[in-house]
Amino acid sequence: MALLTVTNATVQFGGLIAVNQVSFGAEPGKVRALIGPNGAGKTTLFKAIAGEEQLASGTIHFQDQAIHTLTPHEISARGIRRTFQTGGLFGELTALENVLTGLHTQIPSSFGGLLANTRSAKAVEKAATKKALKLLDLMGIAHVAEQWARDLSGGQKRMVEIVRALATDPPLLLLDEPAVGLAPPVRLELMNIIRRLVDEENIGVILIEHAIEFVMTVSDTIMVLNNGEVIAEGAPEEIRQNKDVLEAYLGR
Ligand SMILES: Nc1ncnc2c1ncn2[C@@H]1O[C@H](COP(=O)(O)OP(=O)(O)OP(=O)(O)O)[C@@H](O)[C@H]1O
Ligand SMILES: [Mg+2]
Repeated sequence: MALLTVTNATVQFGGLIAVNQVSFGAEPGKVRALIGPNGAGKTTLFKAIAGEEQLASGTIHFQDQAIHTLTPHEISARGIRRTFQTGGLFGELTALENVLTGLHTQIPSSFGGLLANTRSAKAVEKAATKKALKLLDLMGIAHVAEQWARDLSGGQKRMVEIVRALATDPPLLLLDEPAVGLAPPVRLELMNIIRRLVDEENIGVILIEHAIEFVMTVSDTIMVLNNGEVIAEGAPEEIRQNKDVLEAYLGR
Protein backbone atom coordinates (compact mmCIF):
# COMPACT_ATOMS: atom_id res chain seq x y z
CA MET A 1 0.00 0.00 0.00
CA ALA A 2 1.37 3.39 -1.01
CA LEU A 3 1.52 5.96 1.79
CA LEU A 4 1.01 9.07 -0.34
CA THR A 5 0.65 9.40 -4.09
CA VAL A 6 0.30 12.83 -5.68
CA THR A 7 -0.59 12.66 -9.38
CA ASN A 8 -0.47 15.65 -11.73
CA ALA A 9 -1.54 18.02 -8.98
CA THR A 10 -2.26 21.58 -10.12
CA VAL A 11 -3.26 24.51 -7.89
CA GLN A 12 -4.25 27.87 -9.36
CA PHE A 13 -4.85 31.26 -7.79
CA GLY A 14 -6.73 33.14 -10.48
CA GLY A 15 -4.33 33.28 -13.41
CA LEU A 16 -1.33 32.15 -11.35
CA ILE A 17 -0.42 28.47 -11.53
CA ALA A 18 1.23 27.97 -8.14
CA VAL A 19 1.61 24.19 -8.49
CA ASN A 20 1.84 22.81 -12.01
CA GLN A 21 1.25 19.11 -12.79
CA VAL A 22 3.28 17.84 -9.84
CA SER A 23 3.58 14.09 -9.23
CA PHE A 24 5.47 12.27 -6.47
CA GLY A 25 5.07 9.79 -3.64
CA ALA A 26 6.02 9.45 0.02
CA GLU A 27 6.98 6.26 1.86
CA PRO A 28 7.12 5.13 5.50
CA GLY A 29 10.55 5.55 7.08
CA LYS A 30 11.72 7.94 4.36
CA VAL A 31 12.38 11.66 4.27
CA ARG A 32 11.51 13.49 1.08
CA ALA A 33 12.83 17.03 1.01
CA LEU A 34 11.06 19.71 -0.98
CA ILE A 35 13.33 22.61 -1.84
CA GLY A 36 13.05 25.62 -4.12
CA PRO A 37 13.15 29.42 -4.11
CA ASN A 38 10.58 31.74 -2.52
CA GLY A 39 7.22 31.43 -4.23
CA ALA A 40 8.09 28.09 -5.87
CA GLY A 41 4.85 26.54 -4.61
CA LYS A 42 6.17 24.44 -1.72
CA THR A 43 3.71 25.56 0.95
CA THR A 44 0.83 25.52 -1.54
CA LEU A 45 1.63 21.88 -2.28
CA PHE A 46 1.46 21.12 1.47
CA LYS A 47 -1.85 22.95 1.70
CA ALA A 48 -3.23 20.89 -1.16
CA ILE A 49 -2.18 17.66 0.58
CA ALA A 50 -3.72 18.88 3.86
CA GLY A 51 -6.96 19.85 2.11
CA GLU A 52 -6.55 23.59 2.66
CA GLU A 53 -6.31 24.35 -1.05
CA GLN A 54 -8.38 22.74 -3.79
CA LEU A 55 -6.75 21.06 -6.78
CA ALA A 56 -7.65 22.55 -10.16
CA SER A 57 -6.74 19.12 -11.57
CA GLY A 58 -4.96 15.95 -10.51
CA THR A 59 -5.43 13.58 -7.58
CA ILE A 60 -3.94 12.88 -4.14
CA HIS A 61 -4.20 9.44 -2.58
CA PHE A 62 -3.28 8.53 1.00
CA GLN A 63 -3.02 4.84 1.87
CA ASP A 64 -4.65 4.13 -1.49
CA GLN A 65 -7.71 6.29 -0.85
CA ALA A 66 -8.48 9.57 -2.61
CA ILE A 67 -8.19 12.48 -0.15
CA HIS A 68 -8.25 15.53 -2.43
CA THR A 69 -12.00 15.84 -1.96
CA LEU A 70 -11.85 15.70 1.86
CA THR A 71 -11.83 18.56 4.38
CA PRO A 72 -8.66 19.45 6.33
CA HIS A 73 -10.22 17.96 9.46
CA GLU A 74 -10.96 14.65 7.73
CA ILE A 75 -7.44 14.49 6.29
CA SER A 76 -5.87 15.21 9.66
CA ALA A 77 -8.04 12.50 11.25
CA ARG A 78 -6.73 10.00 8.71
CA GLY A 79 -3.20 10.63 9.89
CA ILE A 80 -1.59 13.43 7.91
CA ARG A 81 -0.22 16.05 10.29
CA ARG A 82 1.62 19.23 9.46
CA THR A 83 3.56 21.99 11.13
CA PHE A 84 3.29 25.56 9.93
CA GLN A 85 5.88 27.86 8.42
CA THR A 86 4.95 30.64 10.86
CA GLY A 87 4.61 28.54 13.98
CA GLY A 88 1.51 28.09 16.04
CA LEU A 89 2.03 27.33 19.71
CA PHE A 90 -0.24 28.68 22.43
CA GLY A 91 2.08 31.01 24.35
CA GLU A 92 -0.07 30.89 27.49
CA LEU A 93 0.17 27.10 27.74
CA THR A 94 3.19 25.08 28.82
CA ALA A 95 5.23 23.05 26.34
CA LEU A 96 3.57 19.88 27.64
CA GLU A 97 0.05 21.35 27.43
CA ASN A 98 0.72 22.41 23.85
CA VAL A 99 1.63 18.84 22.97
CA LEU A 100 -1.53 17.59 24.70
CA THR A 101 -3.70 19.89 22.54
CA GLY A 102 -2.49 17.83 19.58
CA LEU A 103 -3.64 14.63 21.24
CA HIS A 104 -7.03 15.98 22.27
CA THR A 105 -8.10 16.42 18.67
CA GLN A 106 -8.19 12.61 18.58
CA ILE A 107 -11.00 12.47 21.15
CA PRO A 108 -14.36 13.18 19.46
CA SER A 109 -15.54 16.54 20.78
CA SER A 110 -19.09 15.32 21.49
CA PHE A 111 -17.59 12.87 23.95
CA GLY A 112 -15.23 15.39 25.45
CA GLY A 113 -17.77 16.84 27.88
CA LEU A 114 -19.23 13.50 28.85
CA LEU A 115 -15.83 11.99 29.46
CA ALA A 116 -14.35 14.91 31.32
CA ASN A 117 -14.54 13.54 34.83
CA THR A 118 -14.80 9.84 34.33
CA ARG A 119 -12.16 7.35 35.24
CA SER A 120 -11.55 6.44 31.61
CA ALA A 121 -10.96 10.09 30.73
CA LYS A 122 -8.33 10.29 33.43
CA ALA A 123 -6.66 7.14 32.13
CA VAL A 124 -6.61 8.60 28.61
CA GLU A 125 -5.14 11.83 29.96
CA LYS A 126 -2.46 9.97 31.88
CA ALA A 127 -1.42 7.88 28.89
CA ALA A 128 -1.33 11.00 26.71
CA THR A 129 0.86 12.84 29.21
CA LYS A 130 3.25 9.90 29.42
CA LYS A 131 3.54 9.74 25.67
CA ALA A 132 4.02 13.51 25.33
CA LEU A 133 6.82 13.44 27.90
CA LYS A 134 8.49 10.53 26.10
CA LEU A 135 8.47 12.46 22.82
CA LEU A 136 9.75 15.65 24.46
CA ASP A 137 12.54 13.56 25.93
CA LEU A 138 13.33 12.06 22.52
CA MET A 139 13.72 15.60 21.17
CA GLY A 140 15.99 16.47 24.09
CA ILE A 141 13.62 19.05 25.60
CA ALA A 142 11.89 17.17 28.45
CA HIS A 143 13.36 19.70 30.88
CA VAL A 144 11.19 22.51 29.46
CA ALA A 145 7.91 20.55 29.65
CA GLU A 146 6.47 22.82 32.37
CA GLN A 147 7.67 26.13 30.90
CA TRP A 148 5.32 28.56 29.16
CA ALA A 149 5.63 28.16 25.42
CA ARG A 150 6.17 31.91 25.00
CA ASP A 151 9.35 31.67 27.09
CA LEU A 152 10.96 28.90 25.02
CA SER A 153 13.83 29.55 22.62
CA GLY A 154 13.12 29.48 18.88
CA GLY A 155 14.59 26.01 18.54
CA GLN A 156 12.65 24.67 21.51
CA LYS A 157 9.41 26.08 20.07
CA ARG A 158 10.06 24.33 16.78
CA MET A 159 10.72 21.06 18.56
CA VAL A 160 7.52 21.36 20.64
CA GLU A 161 5.55 21.94 17.43
CA ILE A 162 7.03 18.82 15.91
CA VAL A 163 6.28 16.80 19.04
CA ARG A 164 2.69 18.07 18.99
CA ALA A 165 2.32 16.90 15.40
CA LEU A 166 3.97 13.57 16.23
CA ALA A 167 1.97 12.84 19.35
CA THR A 168 -0.84 11.20 17.41
CA ASP A 169 1.51 8.73 15.65
CA PRO A 170 0.71 10.17 12.23
CA PRO A 171 1.83 7.90 9.38
CA LEU A 172 2.75 11.05 7.43
CA LEU A 173 4.23 14.26 8.76
CA LEU A 174 4.56 17.45 6.69
CA LEU A 175 7.19 19.85 8.04
CA ASP A 176 7.18 23.35 6.55
CA GLU A 177 10.62 24.90 7.12
CA PRO A 178 10.96 23.55 10.68
CA ALA A 179 14.49 24.90 10.97
CA VAL A 180 13.85 28.41 9.68
CA GLY A 181 15.40 31.14 11.80
CA LEU A 182 17.51 28.77 13.88
CA ALA A 183 21.27 29.06 14.24
CA PRO A 184 23.10 26.65 11.88
CA PRO A 185 24.23 24.21 14.60
CA VAL A 186 20.66 23.98 15.98
CA ARG A 187 19.35 23.56 12.45
CA LEU A 188 21.65 20.64 11.87
CA GLU A 189 20.72 19.14 15.22
CA LEU A 190 17.03 19.41 14.33
CA MET A 191 17.70 17.65 11.01
CA ASN A 192 19.44 14.83 12.90
CA ILE A 193 16.52 14.53 15.31
CA ILE A 194 14.06 14.35 12.42
CA ARG A 195 16.13 11.58 10.85
CA ARG A 196 16.16 9.64 14.13
CA LEU A 197 12.40 10.00 14.54
CA VAL A 198 11.76 8.75 11.04
CA ASP A 199 14.01 5.74 11.58
CA GLU A 200 12.58 4.90 15.01
CA GLU A 201 8.88 5.53 14.37
CA ASN A 202 8.85 4.52 10.69
CA ILE A 203 6.79 7.56 9.71
CA GLY A 204 7.00 9.21 6.32
CA VAL A 205 8.19 12.81 6.30
CA ILE A 206 8.00 15.51 3.67
CA LEU A 207 10.30 18.33 4.66
CA ILE A 208 10.27 21.81 3.15
CA GLU A 209 13.57 23.67 3.40
CA HIS A 210 15.10 26.54 1.56
CA ALA A 211 18.70 25.63 2.00
CA ILE A 212 19.96 22.56 0.19
CA GLU A 213 22.87 22.06 2.59
CA PHE A 214 20.51 21.38 5.49
CA VAL A 215 18.61 18.61 3.74
CA MET A 216 21.62 16.84 2.23
CA THR A 217 22.19 14.50 5.18
CA VAL A 218 18.61 14.03 6.36
CA SER A 219 16.87 13.20 3.07
CA ASP A 220 16.43 10.02 1.10
CA THR A 221 15.10 11.96 -1.87
CA ILE A 222 15.19 15.65 -2.77
CA MET A 223 12.60 17.21 -5.06
CA VAL A 224 13.23 20.69 -6.45
CA LEU A 225 10.33 22.98 -7.30
CA ASN A 226 10.66 26.13 -9.38
CA ASN A 227 7.69 28.20 -10.57
CA GLY A 228 5.34 25.43 -9.46
CA GLU A 229 7.10 22.75 -11.49
CA VAL A 230 9.34 19.87 -10.47
CA ILE A 231 12.67 20.63 -12.12
CA ALA A 232 14.65 17.81 -10.51
CA GLU A 233 14.22 14.81 -8.25
CA GLY A 234 16.75 12.33 -6.93
CA ALA A 235 19.20 11.29 -4.24
CA PRO A 236 20.97 14.21 -2.50
CA GLU A 237 24.22 13.63 -4.40
CA GLU A 238 22.45 13.69 -7.77
CA ILE A 239 20.64 16.90 -6.91
CA ARG A 240 23.80 18.60 -5.80
CA GLN A 241 25.33 17.94 -9.22
CA ASN A 242 22.20 18.59 -11.31
CA LYS A 243 22.85 21.32 -13.87
CA ASP A 244 19.25 22.63 -13.98
CA VAL A 245 19.19 22.91 -10.21
CA LEU A 246 22.45 24.78 -10.09
CA GLU A 247 21.23 27.21 -12.72
CA ALA A 248 17.62 27.75 -11.73
CA TYR A 249 17.82 27.40 -8.00
CA LEU A 250 21.32 28.18 -6.88
CA GLY A 251 21.75 30.85 -9.54
CA ARG A 252 25.01 29.58 -10.99
N1 LIG B 1 -3.91 32.35 -1.17
C1 LIG B 1 -3.19 32.77 -2.21
N2 LIG B 1 -3.69 33.61 -3.13
C2 LIG B 1 -2.99 34.01 -4.21
N3 LIG B 1 -1.72 33.64 -4.45
C3 LIG B 1 -1.14 32.82 -3.57
C4 LIG B 1 -1.82 32.34 -2.40
N4 LIG B 1 -0.99 31.53 -1.71
C5 LIG B 1 0.16 31.51 -2.40
N5 LIG B 1 0.08 32.27 -3.51
C6 LIG B 1 1.14 32.45 -4.52
O1 LIG B 1 1.49 31.15 -4.97
C7 LIG B 1 2.91 31.08 -5.19
C8 LIG B 1 3.49 29.96 -4.36
O2 LIG B 1 3.46 30.33 -2.98
P1 LIG B 1 3.97 29.35 -1.83
O3 LIG B 1 3.62 29.97 -0.53
O4 LIG B 1 3.47 27.99 -2.10
O5 LIG B 1 5.55 29.39 -2.07
P2 LIG B 1 6.72 28.72 -1.23
O6 LIG B 1 7.49 27.87 -2.17
O7 LIG B 1 6.18 28.09 -0.01
O8 LIG B 1 7.60 30.01 -0.88
P3 LIG B 1 8.45 30.36 0.46
O9 LIG B 1 9.74 29.64 0.31
O10 LIG B 1 8.61 31.82 0.38
O11 LIG B 1 7.65 29.92 1.66
C9 LIG B 1 3.45 32.46 -4.87
O12 LIG B 1 3.56 33.16 -6.08
C10 LIG B 1 2.40 33.05 -3.96
O13 LIG B 1 2.39 34.43 -4.05
MG1 LIG C 1 6.42 28.40 2.00
